[in-house]
Amino acid sequence: MVFKVGLLGLGTVGTGTAKILLDAAQRHPLLETLEIHRVGVRSLDKPRAVDLPEDCLTTDLEAIVTDPDIDIVIEVIGGLEPARSLLLEAIEDGKHVVTANKAVISRYGNEIAAAAKKAGVYVLYEAAVGGGIPIIQPLQQALGVNRIETVTGIINGTTNYILTRMQAEGGDFGPILTDAQALGYAEADPTADVDGLDAADKIAILASIAFGGKIRREDVFTEGIRNVSASDVDYAKTLGFVIKLLAIAKRNPLNADKTDTIQLRVHPTLVPLNHPLANVNDVNNAVLVEGDPIGQVMLYGPGAGEGPTASAIVSDVMAIAATLHMESPAEEKLPNPLLSNAYSDYK
Ligand code: HSE
Repeated sequence: MVFKVGLLGLGTVGTGTAKILLDAAQRHPLLETLEIHRVGVRSLDKPRAVDLPEDCLTTDLEAIVTDPDIDIVIEVIGGLEPARSLLLEAIEDGKHVVTANKAVISRYGNEIAAAAKKAGVYVLYEAAVGGGIPIIQPLQQALGVNRIETVTGIINGTTNYILTRMQAEGGDFGPILTDAQALGYAEADPTADVDGLDAADKIAILASIAFGGKIRREDVFTEGIRNVSASDVDYAKTLGFVIKLLAIAKRNPLNADKTDTIQLRVHPTLVPLNHPLANVNDVNNAVLVEGDPIGQVMLYGPGAGEGPTASAIVSDVMAIAATLHMESPAEEKLPNPLLSNAYSDYK
């Protein structure tokens, strides 16, 4: 059984995703059940860092989301439009969807989930928060039984990279941002990173899972690192702190009528050197979850860049493929793909 994939976008993350999909035999047998069918790009003339058959490239993204041969659409074009409309169109057309789009999920997650429920398709978005770190699925499943009290994260790789280098080398953020862009960490418009908007999208997504309510993206208080100067970093160091851009979602004490409220904020924060988040450096991200009965859990790893983000995307695609295999007719069914790593099981 083969599932055909349509890839929307061939930038840094799209390229990483295509590379993994083309390297199937080296990785996981389930990947061999996936085939890149079409790839949507802005221009056909650009040189590519991945070897794809010419005839699978198209500038007609709409044709991908309505292509009857495609089973799973991966969206890595980013931004609100046309990404949101394309995602909805793919879902309405009965396609499963994997996206890294934090801007869309944080604002239209409920609309997308409702459309997916109606169409009976899966929508996964692990890559939208924390790059390569598994955080969406653990919050939904492995930690799902807990009453979450706080989610505190360093969830923007670009600003963490900038602050780490300011801490180590001194100097202001401008030139360091240029390096972060060259390394493929920053958004197409890096003001989304520097001004905290990207982290605000991500904490809104985490909060909506952790606290189960309707979170409004516009309710996240947001201040970026634009006003953090070299001398702020120096003073913090002298006092035994590092400056980190933290994203915080925290349950407030119960109201008198026993209703819950939460606070949502993103801002530069003085973090004591002995705090678990103080040593999360460079492009790494970390999310510290506190809940009952688990206590504290921290998830840590590379928060941006081609490989880590593509790892999260293709793992989502594999999870969908695994589920589709399990749902397939008995005569075509493979051994439970989630429980087996044995290559021979899939032959
Ligand atoms: N620009 C984002 C970051 C990419 O720096 O974290 C990953 O979402």
